[in-house]
Amino acid sequence: MDPSDEARQLENTAKEEVLSAKSLEDLEAVRVKYLGRKGLLTGLLRKLGEAKPEERKELGKLLNVAKSALTADIDARKAALKGARDERSLLEESLDITLPGRTSAIGGLHPTIKMMREIMEVFLGMGFTSVEGPEIETEYNNFDALNTPDWHPSRDEQDSFYVADGFVLRTHTSPGQIRVMKSQPPPVRVIVPGRCHRRDTPDASHVISFYQVEGLYVDYEVSMADLKGTLAAFAREIFGTETRVRFRPHFFPFTEPSAELDISCLVCGGGGCRLCKDSGWVEVLGCGMVHPSVFRHVGYDPRGVTGFAFGMGVERLAMLKYGIENMKVLYDNDLRFLRQFRT
Ligand code: DAH
Repeated sequence: MDPSDEARQLENTAKEEVLSAKSLEDLEAVRVKYLGRKGLLTGLLRKLGEAKPEERKELGKLLNVAKSALTADIDARKAALKGARDERSLLEESLDITLPGRTSAIGGLHPTIKMMREIMEVFLGMGFTSVEGPEIETEYNNFDALNTPDWHPSRDEQDSFYVADGFVLRTHTSPGQIRVMKSQPPPVRVIVPGRCHRRDTPDASHVISFYQVEGLYVDYEVSMADLKGTLAAFAREIFGTETRVRFRPHFFPFTEPSAELDISCLVCGGGGCRLCKDSGWVEVLGCGMVHPSVFRHVGYDPRGVTGFAFGMGVERLAMLKYGIENMKVLYDNDLRFLRQFRT
């Protein structure tokens, strides 16, 4: 056959095969068949030298045109097949855009911290400011300055973790009072939230690390009436306006007189139940008028200044408020429990 005819025929069959290639793999096979190193068209180009000199130029041109035409056809077919494949895979993915999205897990405040913030909110609203003290405290601030010398029996009740000579993990937030009063003259109106530690045996209402919020109000004419009014307002703010309060005489070394604040039982309303052990009342916090000896320790003149102080266990209040029976659940880190408090 005439080499030019042969070239034309080859081009035509090649084009047909390109168009009928059903996949990228088929198409690649066609390319190799014609344009590969041992391909048919490549073969013809290689044999160009054998052609008669007067035909060579014409034939060369024909073959090169055929080569670029075929290359262009292959590229076009490749693009078409690729597009089809992408479309098919999109369809196969069957993405349902109407499905609800996955929400990312958002944490929430721990009930103890929530309770602490609520307590602080109330006092901040009354004009108190909040300060913090260190968890490692001097024995002096934690006990002596609070009128609790080392022979004092109440020092045994607050069994402590001693970390170094003269230092203790604070057993309450009351040393915060000492720090504040030492740093400024009266008037003082502060709350001290923070973590405390005691060498207690854990049970339903005791753990070795817990939170307290301390309060201190010192000025020149602060009276027991101020204490009662402030803490009654606080109790109603936290536990509801129907809550009744009573101040029951108690003893704390750093206050005189001292009291414990009880509220009417949240479960039975005062009639008597398991929570209040049939008394109708539950204990909420300790309080009292700052002892003159405490004032002397911080350099305040007890003949001039008066003040009240109070301290409460945050977990205890959380248990009362949220109806939690065992303090342990506040420390177990069980998400099924904690999620209930997520807002
Ligand atoms: N610090 C006491 C405790 O841990 C609580 C307390 C009672 C604090 C009376 C006070 C207070 O400031 O006046 O049990």
